[in-house]
Amino acid sequence: MKQQFGIWLVGAGGGVASTVAVGLAALRRGLIQPTALVSALPCFQALNLTPWDQWELGGHEIRAANFFDGAQQLANSSRAFSPALVDQVREDLVRWSEQIRPGFLYNSGQAISALADSRQSRQLDSPRKTITAIQEDLRAFAAERNLEKVIVINVSSTEPGHDRSLDELDWQQFSTQLDRPDFPVPASTLYAIATMELGFPHVNFTPSVGSNLRALRELAELQQTCHAGRDGKTGETFLKSVLAPAFAARNLHVMSWVGHNIFGNLDGKILDDPNNKATKVVSKDALLGNILGYAPQTHTSIEYISSLGDWKTAWDHIHFQGFLGTPMIMQFIWQGCDSILAAPLVLDLARFVGLASQLGEIGELGWLASFFKSPQGASAQEFSEQFAQLRSWAERQMSS
Ligand SMILES: NC(=O)c1ccc[n+]([C@@H]2O[C@H](COP(=O)([O-])OP(=O)(O)OC[C@H]3O[C@@H](n4cnc5c(N)ncnc54)[C@H](O)[C@@H]3O)[C@@H](O)[C@H]2O)c1
Repeated sequence: MKQQFGIWLVGAGGGVASTVAVGLAALRRGLIQPTALVSALPCFQALNLTPWDQWELGGHEIRAANFFDGAQQLANSSRAFSPALVDQVREDLVRWSEQIRPGFLYNSGQAISALADSRQSRQLDSPRKTITAIQEDLRAFAAERNLEKVIVINVSSTEPGHDRSLDELDWQQFSTQLDRPDFPVPASTLYAIATMELGFPHVNFTPSVGSNLRALRELAELQQTCHAGRDGKTGETFLKSVLAPAFAARNLHVMSWVGHNIFGNLDGKILDDPNNKATKVVSKDALLGNILGYAPQTHTSIEYISSLGDWKTAWDHIHFQGFLGTPMIMQFIWQGCDSILAAPLVLDLARFVGLASQLGEIGELGWLASFFKSPQGASAQEFSEQFAQLRSWAERQMSS
């Protein structure tokens, strides 16, 4: 019998998750080309990546939302893809939606809690009880669908910044506090702990803290599992990591880099809350100083404009100095459909992380840095260098 693998999406009713579901179903049925899938590039073809027809989907969601409704909404209100495509994959979306379980809130902040539907979300007494309940859902999914492995991918709303007292705790100190109802650990981290304790791999596509803590790095090692994150690099930040190295290589001095982002989906609404927005802005801003070797003045704004739906416009203004100190300006406008940019990367991550896990890789998968704005386990921020790391990882696997 063919091995089956599961993708468990935390935030299963959201825009990214619904587009992942449409894309996966369409790929399984051979309805679309693999455009925008990095794992479909010729240089990765000799890797033993799991074919599309061997993946199942499930997830957690705190709203009354599912893959099919989410897909219909994206097709009808945002014109992200055609309603006819949703009809063609309806059967898969409905079947996978049956695998969505009520999600968990824990130190999720006001904006996310306000989204939650009380019948679709759970808020238990302690972090440990929450972890146990998440694990019950993951085990049931694996058992019911006869899955060899489940890869948990966080595509849920961006949480407010985490309590910094968590940063320095080792796993021993951390784990002994999980029974304390007032332990300030957020839901994104509880999902990651639940996943790792089962020995499954975890991916954080959001800027929320997730597994980016000393204690969780230790847990991954103890459980001999792997993890990757944070915050998918899909649009404006992808371009920053491509363009900034060019300025650096020509010794052009960037004096300021301003990026204004406007969009109107649910993610944008959550990021309209200043606490949640702060987490995203840090993630979008951090790489420039690292690439350039000095810190130009930067400003990143993210504004929610509801009429734009899933379409994001980023306008970047780069003020730089050339020879003889002459100031010049580069501007670009990026108009992307948010979920369409993100979904193929989520599918790629599932395949690469799935293979790494099968090969026994442990800890942070730094060679996946090209997929993330704030890559864990990697220092390089230049896109070409990050992509070279992915290629050389693949070449090592193909030659061994
Ligand atoms: N291009 C992109 O779309 C892109 C790029 C990088 C990162 N991201 C990040 O990916 C995430 C998803 O983006 P989206 O556009 O799909 O957002 P979305 O708001 O459409 O979907 C998020 C979903 O998560 C659910 N949710 C919130 N908290 C939850 C919890 N504790 N448990 C279970 N479900 C929960 C929400 O109800 C919502 O349905 C966001 O954090 C976003 O910042 C997106």
